[in-house]
Amino acid sequence: MKKIKKLNIAIIGLGTIGTYLYKYLQTNKSILSKKNNCEPIVNYVSAKNKKKKRTIKIDKKKWLNNYLDATKLENVDIIVELIGGAEGPAKKLVFNALRNKKHVVTANKALIAKYGDQLSKIAENNNVNLEFEAAVCGGVPIIRSLKEGLIANKINKVYGIFNGTSNYILSTMDKNNESFKDVLINAKRLGYAESNPQSDLNGDDVAAKLKILSSLCFNSFIDNNIHVEGINNIDKTDIDNANKLGFKIKLLGVSEIIKNKIYQRVHPTLIKKTSYIASIDGVLNAVIIDGKPVGQNIIQGEGAGPEPTTSALISDISSILRGNIKFPFSISNKERKNLNYKSISEKSFSAYLRFEVVDKPGVLSNITKIFSKNKVSIKRLIQNPYKSKKFASIIIITHISKNKFLDKIIKQTIRKPYIVKKPKLIRIGIN
Ligand SMILES: NC(=O)c1ccc[n+]([C@@H]2O[C@H](COP(=O)([O-])OP(=O)(O)OC[C@H]3O[C@@H](n4cnc5c(N)ncnc54)[C@H](OP(=O)(O)O)[C@@H]3O)[C@@H](O)[C@H]2O)c1
Repeated sequence: MKKIKKLNIAIIGLGTIGTYLYKYLQTNKSILSKKNNCEPIVNYVSAKNKKKKRTIKIDKKKWLNNYLDATKLENVDIIVELIGGAEGPAKKLVFNALRNKKHVVTANKALIAKYGDQLSKIAENNNVNLEFEAAVCGGVPIIRSLKEGLIANKINKVYGIFNGTSNYILSTMDKNNESFKDVLINAKRLGYAESNPQSDLNGDDVAAKLKILSSLCFNSFIDNNIHVEGINNIDKTDIDNANKLGFKIKLLGVSEIIKNKIYQRVHPTLIKKTSYIASIDGVLNAVIIDGKPVGQNIIQGEGAGPEPTTSALISDISSILRGNIKFPFSISNKERKNLNYKSISEKSFSAYLRFEVVDKPGVLSNITKIFSKNKVSIKRLIQNPYKSKKFASIIIITHISKNKFLDKIIKQTIRKPYIVKKPKLIRIGIN
């Protein structure tokens, strides 16, 4: 029988993900070898602190004192980068690895969103693979689906829930009737939120994933023009109002091509309770693709954590074990294009606006006048007085109007003496 091929792997970064991946590869080597007709051998590992106590036993011979040595050693074919961050050691490692003709697998969305185009060119020129399935929505196999299963399609829209932490917070506030602050504390305790969850809450994490998805869907270079809002300002009152109106609030990433222009945006959105995307709760992610000839395609699953992320990393490693060099972004860099970006201000939405005001005569008519001055017509208006009677909350649902006019209403009301809190705008639906 023909001798089975072997490929040597260096895992750099042994934190939450690296440790799980290491254990997985130790215990599943045989089945992976059979499935891929090539044996994955982890012959080197490295992390920052050699003396750190770890839950895995590592043979001293495998430990690299300088993690960058992995990029120079003859007996390393694949480098798995699990350090994280767009700059510093992760950047150095991946650039050097590709320059030295090593295949790279990474779970690092920040690095790919920032340097993916440059890295992809080096990989293509050097005839090696750069794989990043684990960087977008953890265990949801969206990257490989786009590159392989959905290769036939011209995609015009990609959207969905790409951040498990923010989705967990929004759905738990809703289900358990808890405040943002309380849910966040619990999410950290349960390991659903990092100790510094800033990029999960301010929309940056979704933005990085959406930029990567857009370039794969539209055969384009990564476009850094993107409108980003997170969930930091969503409070229990918004969740309750949404419920009364038949909606749920979800943090969505949406990217679409309209008349050869790209719109990319991340923001909380009011979604009809009966819609599919409203049913994606907790830490789940869902990616929805509109393409031709396939129509609408949905993939959902766990977006983070060591198990789902390892599932994605193994898919990438297996793809390399099976051979063939693939273009990192599905198409040669020579064929990728720059798209023209169109700002959200030109998009039209129906919207929910909330004004916290001093409850006195004339306030409501002043607000509605600002709406009519900006040609935004009102579909529904609800006024809820506070128990103290001194203040009131005014909720206005608008008909569809351009985002720039909705923004103007916020700008023109924000400094009014009767406004007690920054007015809120949450767009409705995925149109
Ligand atoms: N956690 C998730 O659920 C998840 C999901 C999807 C994708 N990801 C991505 O996966 C990557 C790893 O995440 P993680 O959660 O495993 O991170 P982590 O637990 O913080 O682990 C980071 C690892 O990098 C090592 N490291 C830090 N600086 C280094 C340096 N200068 N040289 C060598 N090693 C260094 C650390 O070493 P020490 O152990 O010695 O401190 C640690 O082992 C990130 O890109 C993240 O965005 C994570």
